[in-house]
Amino acid sequence: GIVVSSLLKTTGLVTVDPGFTNTASCESSITYIDGDAGILRYRGYPIEQLAEQSSFLEVAYLLIHGALPDAAALDAFVERVNRHTFVHEDFRTFMGTFPRDGHPMAVLASAINALSTFYPESLDPRDPETVELATVLLLAKTRTITSYLHRRRAGEPLLYPDYSRGYVDDFLRMTFATPYQQYEADPVVVDALDKLLILHADHEQNCSTSTVRVVGSSNANLYASVAAGVNALSGPSHGGANEAVLAMLTEIQGSDFDVDTFMTKVKNKEDGVRLMGFGHRVYKSYDPRAAIVKKSADAVLSSLGKNDELLDIALRLEEIALNDDYFVERKLYPNVDFYTGLIYKAMGFSPAMFTPLFALGRMPGWIAQWREMVNDPQTKIGRPRQIYTGETERDYVPVASR
Ligand code: ACO
Repeated sequence: GIVVSSLLKTTGLVTVDPGFTNTASCESSITYIDGDAGILRYRGYPIEQLAEQSSFLEVAYLLIHGALPDAAALDAFVERVNRHTFVHEDFRTFMGTFPRDGHPMAVLASAINALSTFYPESLDPRDPETVELATVLLLAKTRTITSYLHRRRAGEPLLYPDYSRGYVDDFLRMTFATPYQQYEADPVVVDALDKLLILHADHEQNCSTSTVRVVGSSNANLYASVAAGVNALSGPSHGGANEAVLAMLTEIQGSDFDVDTFMTKVKNKEDGVRLMGFGHRVYKSYDPRAAIVKKSADAVLSSLGKNDELLDIALRLEEIALNDDYFVERKLYPNVDFYTGLIYKAMGFSPAMFTPLFALGRMPGWIAQWREMVNDPQTKIGRPRQIYTGETERDYVPVASR
């Protein structure tokens, strides 16, 4: 609750704040979170309204440009993103050279980094037109790349984009369609995925976004900064949690211990086991995104006729946690990752694709935050201090004398 505006420019005083739990790295007007009240707003608009009424590209525009577009501006933006969805043939070949069973997050980070070598005209962080081009290229090509991440794991060819379809509709076609066959995405699935991408679109100074800002603060280009964000997102304490949740639920399902035994392990911190998809640095109440996702999981699974026993296990885990002192005292509630994997699974994605889907959704946020940083006169290169705890000065000893 306390905002300290510090003008400390001397080297005399250094504060230690592991994990930056009490350090604001910037001022930002993009996303507002009240972790105690469970409130999330993009540019002032409640996440519930955006998830219900907006679309992913409109939210991307809102985050990046600060205001909702009128109809003409939205059309122009969507059209421009559409026009850039193709990737260079050499780029496709490059992506095809990674081992097929390598983790798609590693391929995604490499691919986004490599975009800078294919589009050298979009690299200057100080030129607004160039930055706008890189913005559109990233939104457009990450979608194509993500669909190809899925296909190449199965040894299937990349499908070319179809301009006549919407962003999410065509993403699903490029991911799941069979070449030379009509493909119609289920409107329930299109709607649910659009909503999920909106829910992931920004979350102020989280681990990956802070990474994007720190990398960008050295004047590195947008692709280099965002590729670093993808790598930060891959960890199971951050975006990788959606994949880890499914692994946890599957392990419980296939084991001979029950849900209560698993929870006892978590509470005893046996082997460092955590209830994945629970807890958050900022939310000390129910994550508002998780509340929306939970409803959506129920709707999508029943509409697709996919009765997943894993959903029952997840619901049971949540019920136990919400009534258990260990979780109540520590204010641990489901976060956005707890139920998303179940929806992605029902849609036909393999667990390794869950975190790339998070990255696709987070792309507008990373871009908006990077652009805000580039334009902020207060920005300085990210360079924390340390408290040195090593040896005092000592003399070098030649190897023969050690
Ligand atoms: N299961 C069991 N115990 C937990 C969990 C959990 N998921 N999360 C936190 N705790 C406990 C800790 O052991 C600690 O207990 P202690 O007071 O007895 O030492 C206490 O709650 C505080 O936890 P910290 O790790 O200090 O909290 P921090 O804010 O540093 O970590 C994090 C937040 C990383 C999200 C943590 O809650 C976690 O590991 N959750 C599981 C992974 C996960 O779901 N990550 C996704 C986060 S959302 C996102 O990135 C999209």
